[in-house]
Amino acid sequence: MSHAEDHEGTRRDFLYYATAGAGAVTAGAAVWPLVDQMNPSADVKALSSIRVDVSGVEPGTQLTVKWLGKPVFIRRRTQAEIDDARAVDLGDLIDDNAQNRNDMALDASDQNRSLDEAGEWLVMIGVCTHLGCVPIGDGAGDFGGWFCPCHGSHYDTSGRIRKGPAPENLWVPVAAFVDDSTIKLG
Ligand code: FES
Repeated sequence: MSHAEDHEGTRRDFLYYATAGAGAVTAGAAVWPLVDQMNPSADVKALSSIRVDVSGVEPGTQLTVKWLGKPVFIRRRTQAEIDDARAVDLGDLIDDNAQNRNDMALDASDQNRSLDEAGEWLVMIGVCTHLGCVPIGDGAGDFGGWFCPCHGSHYDTSGRIRKGPAPENLWVPVAAFVDDSTIKLG
């Protein structure tokens, strides 16, 4: 292909796209309000709060839901898990902050991390605070809670970092019960 032909082809393509573009702009005036509803900020806003039905979660099991692109662990703890978490001396903790997004000034006692007073429900962002892997749950690791196999971080039954390179407890997102069986995240 000669240079002239090449140029010609490019110019034709340009004209084609320019025409399509002009058409889109014209139509755009009418469809913009709809498109605007779907822009990223509106989209994120719509998803920034979700409701999760936890009626089927048995004690000793957990549900993992995806929220804002991240896994969220919703665990219904056994009494033994609660007792273990509440028996820990806060002086033994690596991170003394509750990492509770409802109130970042709280200490890392299990009462400040669990969702309900009795401590049956624990809701956490399922992302290791070291480099972001998803820890394994269901009693994994040396402290019976969660274990991140990427570099060996052990979390206790309250999701607090106890051993390994992770610097912070698993984050507790803004969450609340809105009725007996529904947890609202965000
Ligand atoms: S990402 Fe979890 S230990 Fe490194």
